[in-house]
Amino acid sequence: MVAVEKNFVNNMFSVEGKIALVTGATGALGCVLAKAYGYAGAKVFMTGRNAAKLQALQDEFVAEGIDCAFATADPSDYDDFQKVVDACVAKYGRIDILAVCHGFNKPQNVLEQSVEDWQYIMDADCKSVYVVTKAVAHQMVKQVEETGVKGGKMIVVTSQRSKRGMANYTGYCTSKGGADLMVSCLACDLTAKYGINVNSICPTVFRSDLTEWMFDPESAVYKNFLNREPVGRLAEPSDFVGYSLFLSSAASDFITGANCDCSGGYLVV
Ligand SMILES: NC(=O)c1ccc[n+]([C@@H]2O[C@H](COP(=O)([O-])OP(=O)(O)OC[C@H]3O[C@@H](n4cnc5c(N)ncnc54)[C@H](OP(=O)(O)O)[C@@H]3O)[C@@H](O)[C@H]2O)c1
Repeated sequence: MVAVEKNFVNNMFSVEGKIALVTGATGALGCVLAKAYGYAGAKVFMTGRNAAKLQALQDEFVAEGIDCAFATADPSDYDDFQKVVDACVAKYGRIDILAVCHGFNKPQNVLEQSVEDWQYIMDADCKSVYVVTKAVAHQMVKQVEETGVKGGKMIVVTSQRSKRGMANYTGYCTSKGGADLMVSCLACDLTAKYGINVNSICPTVFRSDLTEWMFDPESAVYKNFLNREPVGRLAEPSDFVGYSLFLSSAASDFITGANCDCSGGYLVV
């Protein structure tokens, strides 16, 4: 008898009924992933620092029948973020999926950048990943200990810039590289004992308020990028939905500690 179960294959990509916590839900990618989890049948708890934007997202999603809620926090402040974990658990009882989608950059040459500006990027893109994954890990471990059932999925959005240096990016590349390695360490701490998978996805440029200017097909920047993109275009936030749902589902149970290329082939050229 060939050893694969039909029921498992038919349901392995499902996140139906799961509780997904999304940070940076106000951002270009965060709002798309939050809505995608909702469309896929998960209950969605959103966080960011901007309450007005989160309220508008909640109104839009609820109108589409998505069960969702939100709380604000600075993701680099542990005590502040713990309140988000508590609010999510108070509302939905548990956390099954964490998607880390917040981020920040302020490109500057090292010779002009202040130490404070560098530290701000490191806090926004690296320390904050430690803070949110640690706070959620404590909750997921508690769930495992209470129920005796292992499980939990964490997806951290980093960047192709975690693997490549770039002028003016000593803060961003360093913090994203740190977050990618952190994911591998978290997997060593959390997967075997508690069944919590921790992976990152590393996108190339995708459309957002900050990158919209790069999408002019006549611009030199765009043409330059296409020379490095075997897929033949730059990305849209929705390009990362499939990978994120996969890494949130049972289909990816054997994948942990990985920095998943999501770049349209950027690294192969
Ligand atoms: N766009 C791209 O081309 C691209 C490419 C590769 C990787 N990425 C990464 O993918 C993730 C999502 O990118 P995106 O373009 O969707 O981001 P985005 O729209 O620029 O921002 C995402 C959210 O991060 C929060 N944020 C901004 N500054 C912050 C800070 N200092 N501390 C904590 N949170 C802060 C903001 O939410 P609140 O104001 O509500 O807190 C914002 O809505 C980020 O980690 C980014 O670095 C982006």
